Amino acid sequence: MEEKTINTIEKDILKVLISERRLKKRVREIGAQIAADFEEKDPLFVGVLRGSFMFFADLMRVCPIPCGLDFLSASSYNSGTSSSGVVKIDYDIKADIRGRHIVLVEDILDSGNTLYNVSGHLKDRGAKSVKLCVLLDKPARREKPIKPDYVGFTVPDAFVVGYGLDYADRYRNLPYIGVLKPEVYEQ
Ligand code: IMP
Ligand code: MG
Repeated sequence: MEEKTINTIEKDILKVLISERRLKKRVREIGAQIAADFEEKDPLFVGVLRGSFMFFADLMRVCPIPCGLDFLSASSYNSGTSSSGVVKIDYDIKADIRGRHIVLVEDILDSGNTLYNVSGHLKDRGAKSVKLCVLLDKPARREKPIKPDYVGFTVPDAFVVGYGLDYADRYRNLPYIGVLKPEVYEQ
């Protein structure tokens, strides 16, 4: 019988930047660090949808302290590869955060527009503190004065996908962080 080959997303990846093994190890380290810093604070973890979903879920599993979680969605990107600068909250958290310590979890800090606006929004809603936890930091293209409190990896100025990060809503389901072949977004 003829074997059918599945058209996978792997063919569009130029190279693996951060392997599954390295992601797992680093997420475990960050989880332990946050657990130590927040064990008595009953923090609320807020995940920025949709890019942070995989990192968020893995982080929660290695941070065994009393805490709550919630999500919001903000958009500054349409489907291209650079920031528009305008950030809109499309879907907001449900929790009352007055007096709460927030750990804001995001996939990548790039221009800084998203986290700058979202953390301001959470402070406006009465949060006692807002700490920023990002899997990836791409400092080369920063436009806002913003410093993350927890960083998984610092990455070069290339468009990366996988482990939650997308290009045109594809590639989020790759289990590692990869660099996309330029011809994928140049065509
Ligand atoms: P910022 O507002 O420019 O900091 O961008 C943050 C958002 O842009 C992230 O939540 C990502 O969704 C997206 N983003 C920035 N760089 C990349 C990338 O290299 N790959 C995928 N998404 C990215
Ligand atoms: Mg995002």
